[in-house]
Amino acid sequence: MSEAKRLAGEKAIEFVEDGMIVGVGTGSTVAYFIDALGGIRDRIKGAVSSSEQSTARLKQHGIEVLDLNHTGTLSLYVDGADECDPHKRLIKGGGAALTREKIIAEASKQFVCIVDPSKQVPVLGRFPLPVEVIPMARSLVARAILAMTGGQPVWRDGVTTDNGNVVLDIHNLSITDPVAMEREINQIPGVVSVGLFARRPADIVIVGGEPPIVLR
Ligand code: 5RP
Repeated sequence: MSEAKRLAGEKAIEFVEDGMIVGVGTGSTVAYFIDALGGIRDRIKGAVSSSEQSTARLKQHGIEVLDLNHTGTLSLYVDGADECDPHKRLIKGGGAALTREKIIAEASKQFVCIVDPSKQVPVLGRFPLPVEVIPMARSLVARAILAMTGGQPVWRDGVTTDNGNVVLDIHNLSITDPVAMEREINQIPGVVSVGLFARRPADIVIVGGEPPIVLR
């Protein structure tokens, strides 16, 4: 799948305009986008990064990493996904960067999601849904999510997010109303964010292939 990821990441460069500050997601597909962004680094003002991992790669390419508090609204955000439904709603957080990703998506006028074809699903939920949780609330949130959704929460043992929190992955879901599930999980005390991007879905999805497909 890495070839499809590369083709999606490189296609997204077409959405970058001169002088932009680009929002940059996290993951192996985004890594291809960052590498391509490095080739046009003199045309952009800089990037806002969603993770320490992406920050390191951006800096390796000589791209300035800026603070979202200083940039204001961004024109463009490019990120991958773990699943994407036909309405461009997403599951994200496989790389545990979901909270910063959600913040940048919210701050951006256009969200371009780059995926390989394996990420396309008719209904979200085959991929375990990541939820970032304050450490002391881990068991409380797991019990609440089990009661609320029937899905099985599994602690991603050994993983600490860039924000110092833990991740629960919710297995065996079939998410027919992702907007409602996003809202309900968000309301559980101790939840920092849920990896459902339904209230603010992607605007454009690029599916890597020969040629890449751009879904608008
Ligand atoms: C990280 C993410 C990634 O976008 C998602 O996990 C997809 O990763 P990859 O491009 O490596 O398949 O949400 O938190």
